[in-house]
Amino acid sequence: MSEGIVLPPVERGTLLAPAARVARLDDAYAQICAAVSGESDAIAVQATVAALLWETLVQTNWCGFYRRISDRTLSVGPYQGTMGCLRIDLSRGVCGACARTAKVQRVPDVSLFEGHIACDDRTRSELVIPVIRQGRVLAVLDLDSPHLDAFCTEEADRLQSLVDAVFRDVEL
Ligand code: SME
Repeated sequence: MSEGIVLPPVERGTLLAPAARVARLDDAYAQICAAVSGESDAIAVQATVAALLWETLVQTNWCGFYRRISDRTLSVGPYQGTMGCLRIDLSRGVCGACARTAKVQRVPDVSLFEGHIACDDRTRSELVIPVIRQGRVLAVLDLDSPHLDAFCTEEADRLQSLVDAVFRDVEL
């Protein structure tokens, strides 16, 4: 039976210092890769990655995926946290910007991002990572936090690398 992930316990909602967050993500990285190794089903991988990142990134109130279901639309996928919007038009929001540009969107203060979609009014910062296949964004990993500036560039880099690794052999 799977044992999930082994990390030092930290109370949910805590905003650790950036170096401690990066160290925690580094601890989790290989464990998350191992947990989904050999799995090619997209929902199985997305659900497992969302659950394990939720344990890792204790600063989040939302952690999960939106899937691109057409040229215009993202639809919610597996996630942890408060209820998310079901659909997002690619012309809108931080997730839409990520899907349109294929670039990481790191938003330290969502009130300064024009068009931010507030699924949960408590969200104050956000990080969105593209899942790219042959140059096209097929899904995004969305992370929200009730803290300002809850995600640093090092976390973004590691999460992009994690997403690239875990979805490499997945049917999207
Ligand atoms: N805030 C996102 C929408 C998704 S929810 O926060 C889960 C956005 O602006 O795209």
